[in-house]
Amino acid sequence: MKKILVTGGAGFIGSAFVRYQLRTYPEVQVVNFDKLTYAGNLDNVKECDPARHTFVQGDIADRAAIQAAMAGCDAVVNFAADTHVDRSIMGATDFIATNCTGVYNICEAARELGTARVLLVSTDEVYGSIREGSFTEQSPQGPRNPYSASKAGGELIALAHHETFGTPVIITRGSNTYGPYQYPEKVMPLFITNLIDGEQVPLYQGGEHNVRDWLWVDDHASGVDTALRQGTPGQVYNVAGGNERENIVLTHKLLELCGRDASFIRLVKDRPGHDFRYSIDASKLRGLGWTPQMPWDEGVAQTAAWYRDNEWWWRKIKTGEFLEYYRKQYADRK
Ligand code: NAD
Ligand code: TYD
Repeated sequence: MKKILVTGGAGFIGSAFVRYQLRTYPEVQVVNFDKLTYAGNLDNVKECDPARHTFVQGDIADRAAIQAAMAGCDAVVNFAADTHVDRSIMGATDFIATNCTGVYNICEAARELGTARVLLVSTDEVYGSIREGSFTEQSPQGPRNPYSASKAGGELIALAHHETFGTPVIITRGSNTYGPYQYPEKVMPLFITNLIDGEQVPLYQGGEHNVRDWLWVDDHASGVDTALRQGTPGQVYNVAGGNERENIVLTHKLLELCGRDASFIRLVKDRPGHDFRYSIDASKLRGLGWTPQMPWDEGVAQTAAWYRDNEWWWRKIKTGEFLEYYRKQYADRK
């Protein structure tokens, strides 16, 4: 594999994947295609060698633009998505344009160009919530919010494309991902940056016992890479962190790391349709040789330290559009 198109490569996980490719495979060239929505940020890839990393601003919902960027690439790895559940509850039009139509466009362009690999990065949220045990790739989809429904729709379109046209589609379903460069709307960077600023953290009521399985961002990148290089077209691979924690446990850990006490927790009205627990079994990907490397305690400590040491990165994000969003999302959430 010589030239890889990474879509959404200016976002959180996409940029980690770009950096992973460049440091792991000296022969690889990366074309990074990203719309630069509020979540896209060229600061995330500013250390990448311009001789091996080319940035193209564009929208995967624009068929001609994505096809032009894919020409000459051996593989496309799609991270581009609207990704935040709470925003999808406020309105999901953009989610459907990117996560469904955008994915269709990538499949169509791959068919036209004969692209050798189409890896679509998806989420464990397409399975929905599970009280006990873990979902395997054989479990049916059961998305329960607009974000996860749009991701599930994109998956179905792509898997049908594989069946109908033989498009070499591989899908990964990752669990909740954390680490440096995550946009501070998601729980971990939101809570850490609030605590650094001496502000309370809005823990969703009922969220006390909700469980997420935490996956270190570079482990997610290596999982996607394993599926890309060793996976079989038409197959789905779960990428699980193996670190299930209740939100209240995560919150207390972050309070401790940021030197704050429990008075910094503000219990707020729950998210509508809040999925109780996500849990997936990653045996299939482990069978291809993948193992996550980062212990949870160390990963969370490194994440808190990164936000403490890199205020230059997030202070300019937590202004303007972000503050407007924060007010809309949390002001009336008593
Ligand atoms: P992110 O929100 O940080 O970044 C998304 C990126 O996609 C941004 O750079 C944005 O500009 C770009 N983008 C959005 N719409 C686009 C479009 N129409 N055309 C081109 N670029 C566009 O997201 P993330 O957390 O890095 O997630 C990356 C992928 O991983 C997504 O597909 C998401 O569904 C999946 N995923 C995320 C998690 C998680 O915990 N964050 C877990 C499992 C799977
Ligand atoms: P989030 O980071 O939005 O990821 P996802 O919804 O995709 O799992 O949320 C993770 C968990 O944290 C989820 O159970 C909801 C909870 N949460 C809060 O309690 N408060 C918040 O402000 C946010 C953003 C999330």
